[in-house]
Amino acid sequence: MTALLTLHDHVSGFKERITDTWLTPRGVTFSEGFAVAAMMKCLDVDLIIESGTAYGGSTEMVAQMCPEIPIITIDTFTLYEDSEEYVRDRLKDYTNVKIVQGNSFEEIERILNYLPPHIKKIGVFIDGPKGEPALILAHSLSQDKRVKVLAMHDMKHTSPHAPACMALWPHATFWDAGKQNIYNDIKREIDNHMLELNKKLTGPTPSSLNRDDGQGNLQAAMAELSNGSYGLMITPLNVEGYERPRATIEYEEHTRPGFMPAYTISRILVEQEPNALTVYHYSDCQVVFPDGTSPSGSVEHLNVGRQLHVEK
Ligand SMILES: C[S@@+](CC[C@H](N)C(=O)[O-])C[C@H]1O[C@@H](n2cnc3c(N)ncnc32)[C@H](O)[C@@H]1O
Repeated sequence: MTALLTLHDHVSGFKERITDTWLTPRGVTFSEGFAVAAMMKCLDVDLIIESGTAYGGSTEMVAQMCPEIPIITIDTFTLYEDSEEYVRDRLKDYTNVKIVQGNSFEEIERILNYLPPHIKKIGVFIDGPKGEPALILAHSLSQDKRVKVLAMHDMKHTSPHAPACMALWPHATFWDAGKQNIYNDIKREIDNHMLELNKKLTGPTPSSLNRDDGQGNLQAAMAELSNGSYGLMITPLNVEGYERPRATIEYEEHTRPGFMPAYTISRILVEQEPNALTVYHYSDCQVVFPDGTSPSGSVEHLNVGRQLHVEK
């Protein structure tokens, strides 16, 4: 592990700053929020861009950990109708946070085109869209040399997309990978620390936007989660020592009147070494629009029945 990735250095800062033991619905766990924020600090980014604000769980954690870094957080605010009003109120006192309503596929490109020259290092955290659209967005953003950190939530190490992630970003860490997660000791330390704090306050409760009702959800969520994580792929990139291969993602765009486009991958082509191309075929694709609906099913079907085939 190089000096760039000393996530351990940020554990005590996390414990000092993150004293609120409440998790809002649809959000990251505490140790996942830590991983995102600590990686941003390790790579010393000048700007954090988050795609998928929802009720602001991850945004608030990262804002508390990184008050010195500007954060732009983007959401369509179409999936959870009450989320925009909720999060604007929740984050109103964080002067480093700007909330943008829109589709990240368009908004991030616009933001990257208009950034002032002093912004040389950017960290990106994608927590919506998910699955294939997330991979397409992440891959497109990772072509920008200013992007030094890439993180994608709900990307488990057992996901059918994980092999493609490892091919595209060979230095990726999967937060849910148990002992194979090189930061597993930190993850356990933070999870245990927050759980102990939470248990002093309350017992397990269901998830809720109301603080009093949902404060014990941390205990319920951690009991249900295998490896204590919903899945988080995180990697440094465009930094010396963390090079990535040249790659192309071939995909289709699906449109429906009144909806933002949805995307499905057909092939990922990775140049592992000169003149050796690895082709990842995607099949049994499921179209999912950003509001979570799809022409033939719901978002839950996203990963069902898909196989990745590797050809040399
Ligand atoms: C799981 S939630 C985010 C949770 C949040 N990061 C947290 O930790 O509390 C996913 C969010 O991504 C948003 N989303 C999905 N596709 C998007 C897109 N193309 N552009 C912007 N936001 C998108 C959804 O509206 C939804 O609010």
